[in-house]
Amino acid sequence: MPFPPDFLWGSATSAHQVEGNNTSSDWWAWEQEGRVPFKSGLACDHFNRYDEDFDLARDFGQNAHRFSIEWARIEPQEGCFSDEAIRHYTQVIASLRRRGLEPFVTLHHFTNPKWFQERGGWVHRRAPFFFKRYAAQMAQSFKGQVRFWITINEPLVYVYQSYLARIWPADQVGIRAALSALFHFEEAHRAAFDLLHQVQMKGGGGESVQVGVAQAIRLSSPCKESWLPDRAASYLRDYAFNTLFLDRLTRRRALDFIGINYYTRDFVHWGGKGLLSLFGEVCPNAHAHTRTPRSALGWEVYPEGLYKTLLRLKKYHLPLYVTENGFATDDDAEREEFIKDHLTSVRRALEAGTPVKGYFYWSLLDNFEWAEGTRPRFGLVEVDFQSLRRAARPSARRLREIILTEIG
Ligand code: FCB
Repeated sequence: MPFPPDFLWGSATSAHQVEGNNTSSDWWAWEQEGRVPFKSGLACDHFNRYDEDFDLARDFGQNAHRFSIEWARIEPQEGCFSDEAIRHYTQVIASLRRRGLEPFVTLHHFTNPKWFQERGGWVHRRAPFFFKRYAAQMAQSFKGQVRFWITINEPLVYVYQSYLARIWPADQVGIRAALSALFHFEEAHRAAFDLLHQVQMKGGGGESVQVGVAQAIRLSSPCKESWLPDRAASYLRDYAFNTLFLDRLTRRRALDFIGINYYTRDFVHWGGKGLLSLFGEVCPNAHAHTRTPRSALGWEVYPEGLYKTLLRLKKYHLPLYVTENGFATDDDAEREEFIKDHLTSVRRALEAGTPVKGYFYWSLLDNFEWAEGTRPRFGLVEVDFQSLRRAARPSARRLREIILTEIG
């Protein structure tokens, strides 16, 4: 069975990781303070080279593209919106449309304006209000130009990395801060969901907007299947990280679709300290039955997990988009295998009646991988970070062949 003719094929990026010079953001400040060993600097200079990059995406046979708007550019000072930044993203969206690429626009992809973080970030009780004000501005500015909106990228990953692992910008840490940030994300999403729909209805005409989140699904398997504490920790971890947030939003009918960012699974055993021990610990040991190779970040390649994930999320009766799936490697042949195997999982899920509507590879370009810098190479396009020259990798051509075969 082929993929449906209206299936969306694309790749994904996020503003801070590719644009460069994101000087008003909390991440920029974090880097300048030396809190991470790398600086994003010019990144891929995508801010100035997006036309060239979208040419490549189009040449790869894609018909959609996921990117994020940088809140810190739009609202560099509290309450002051930049016309120039709005014009920039208007041009980005127009550039995509000219090339037949359907824009999937993310409003929050890990970075915040510096002023927002200084006010207390996502823990601050007015965080949802600030986000809503920004989202309202975006809904107005891009009315009739964007159909697919992702409010928040991977809220659980953000909360974990910032408030529990303490690797990403945040000035508070601990479980209370983490929970409060999470509640605020939920509130912020729901507010943005409502207003994106209201603004669109006022505008009238066109196809109705679709609003979702991009949820990281990182599967857990117990280290020792036969040992109850490992099984319990793995189960709780899986529930808390993967489906709790989706359960809450779907119960409130605040999702039109679910975006799934799927990469790998973790083996988990009982352990940890205090409350967090409930969610176990990720096992550092290689498990004999896991597949090699692992990615440059040490992530297991587990395509079956994507199939399982899609089937599992079928219960929500919502359209599903794979909004990220990718592999960091210096060996492009491995990437090719990775893509082929994961698309086989998507196809199997479709055959099993799962409403999968699109697939976005992470990422179009090699980019700034947060606290890991530019070393992990995820791109369909290789970027030389000295000259900023782009070179399409063979895996991009392979993906193009698959897309062209699938759409006949
Ligand atoms: C996801 C993030 C994305 C990128 C990939 C590798 O968790 O959404 O920005 O870092 O992982």
